[in-house]
Amino acid sequence: MQQTLILLKPDAVQRRLVGEVIGRFEKKGLRLVGLKLVKPSRDLAEKHYAVHKGKPFYESLLSFLTSGPTVAMVWEGREAVAACRLLMGLTDGAKSPPGTIRGDFGLSVQNNLVHGSDSTENASIEIGLWFKPEELVAFTPTDATWVG
Ligand code: RTP
Ligand code: MG
Repeated sequence: MQQTLILLKPDAVQRRLVGEVIGRFEKKGLRLVGLKLVKPSRDLAEKHYAVHKGKPFYESLLSFLTSGPTVAMVWEGREAVAACRLLMGLTDGAKSPPGTIRGDFGLSVQNNLVHGSDSTENASIEIGLWFKPEELVAFTPTDATWVG
């Protein structure tokens, strides 16, 4: 079963969209196996977005991610990585379709509410950055055979 790292970025917390956005992942049928509120350190933000080091938006992105509380979560389910990316929408809120998280709640490119791992390999790395193994709680939901 795939796992993916989802962050509700500081704008989602500041705008009181945490419950709304978590509800979308829940209703999709994904299982929540890890959850915490974190004010990310510069070191953690650098490691998380290492792939973007050197890009014009890198410093601004790090300032944004470290600016306030972020909700870090691990969601599990069939094709969880791709399913979560589809729920999130495109990077640019203005271009993201209605019905997606970014399409429904924002116009910004940077302040786009949510992060989701983009591959199973990166999911594994990112989960290791944000969570200790003992912070993840595996369980079998009672409706598992119905939801998939
Ligand atoms: P994420 O990693 O946060 O899930 O977002 P993503 O895959 O959709 O987009 P990515 O290309 O990985 O960019 C990471 C985050 O950097 C900010 N960004 N700003 N100003 C810009 O041109 C720009 N481009 C990207 C966004 O916060 C984006 O989610
Ligand atoms: Mg990305």
